[in-house]
Amino acid sequence: MPTEATVMEALQTVEDPELNRSVVDLQMVKSVVVNDRFIRVTVALPSPEYPRRAELRDRVSAALGAMGSVAIDLAVMTEAEQKALVGRLQPTGAGGQRENPFTTARTRVLAVASGKGGVGKSSVTTNLSIALAQAGFSVAAVDADVWGFSMPRMLGIDRPPVVIDTLIVPPAAHGVKLVSMGFFAREDQPVIWRGPMLHKALEQFLTDVWWGEPEFLVVDMPPGTGDVSLSMAQFLPRAEVVVVTTPQPAAQRVAQRAAYMAQKVNLTVTGVIENMSWFRGDDGKAYEIFGRGGGQELADALGVPLLGQVPLVPDLREGGDVGRPIVVEDPANEASVAFTEIARRLHQDLAPKRVYRKELRIV
Ligand SMILES: Nc1ncnc2c1ncn2[C@@H]1O[C@H](COP(=O)(O)OP(=O)(O)OP(=O)(O)O)[C@@H](O)[C@H]1O
Ligand SMILES: [Mg+2]
Repeated sequence: MPTEATVMEALQTVEDPELNRSVVDLQMVKSVVVNDRFIRVTVALPSPEYPRRAELRDRVSAALGAMGSVAIDLAVMTEAEQKALVGRLQPTGAGGQRENPFTTARTRVLAVASGKGGVGKSSVTTNLSIALAQAGFSVAAVDADVWGFSMPRMLGIDRPPVVIDTLIVPPAAHGVKLVSMGFFAREDQPVIWRGPMLHKALEQFLTDVWWGEPEFLVVDMPPGTGDVSLSMAQFLPRAEVVVVTTPQPAAQRVAQRAAYMAQKVNLTVTGVIENMSWFRGDDGKAYEIFGRGGGQELADALGVPLLGQVPLVPDLREGGDVGRPIVVEDPANEASVAFTEIARRLHQDLAPKRVYRKELRIV
């Protein structure tokens, strides 16, 4: 017959689907009662709006099913318990302030930027993030395009993050955790963020989120050198800029703008991605609708490598519109192969040689 101790031991292996840690370690198991007829377990959810109750319940019952008949009661943690949990997950500094984990952590930060709008920045951020996740990395993404946020839709995330006390637990899809202003605003209502409030909100995107030290943080930057870019550069001083452009040979002006942006915010440019490079017709021919050479020209002007060329593929747009990213839906597609190769170049060929260590930082 099972005992409380053997039940707890079995529960030790059950991970909370939101926090990816053992429910025992998270102190979510409130009580275990064992008698000769059943096992009764009470699990406390870390937030009243907890979205994955059914999954949690399934995991608990799968872990205990072999021991006998199981009854699972779900409760919600008290405010004090939530605060204590958050304190354990993300300890605060002396003044009760959380630290921005991306100034010193080992996370590689890629800021996806462009000299102008509509070149496919958000599509690239989405598919590149997933390609990195598919390569086995832990990946997080920030949709810093606070006015034109589109990443929730592209990734297929339609629910807001869980908030435990003051800690934001980002939702994930296709292996990518995401925070977006889209979670805090309605799509049909313009967001009016200005100056200090915007700066604060962006900082919160980084500090008050349970990121769990991802290997990559990919940021969808808004176009230009506005307040958002400046704030992000300040919060992410180690970010590498990846510039997205289209093949028009008028790249020179865009090059200047992109280089100017990186310089102004004091970040290094890692490479260029050319998007919408060609369209392959039913005849198998590649048609260079938007001209050619823009990506290479920009890369040369910036003195960085052209990381890859992504063709114009209708399924890429359609997939983005309904949250079915092409790298997931059709990995053999020419565009998906391009994203996979760009991800490989970034994590293999262009992996930083330097090791960042907190104690070696010059302040
Ligand atoms: N390679 C591609 N093939 C087909 N459609 C694409 C491709 N890249 C982007 N698109 C489509 O072009 C449109 C603009 O792309 P996206 O939203 O990614 O650009 P953006 O640079 O983020 O734009 P914005 O400046 O408005 O934020 C979208 O409808 C997207 O689905
Ligand atoms: Mg965009």
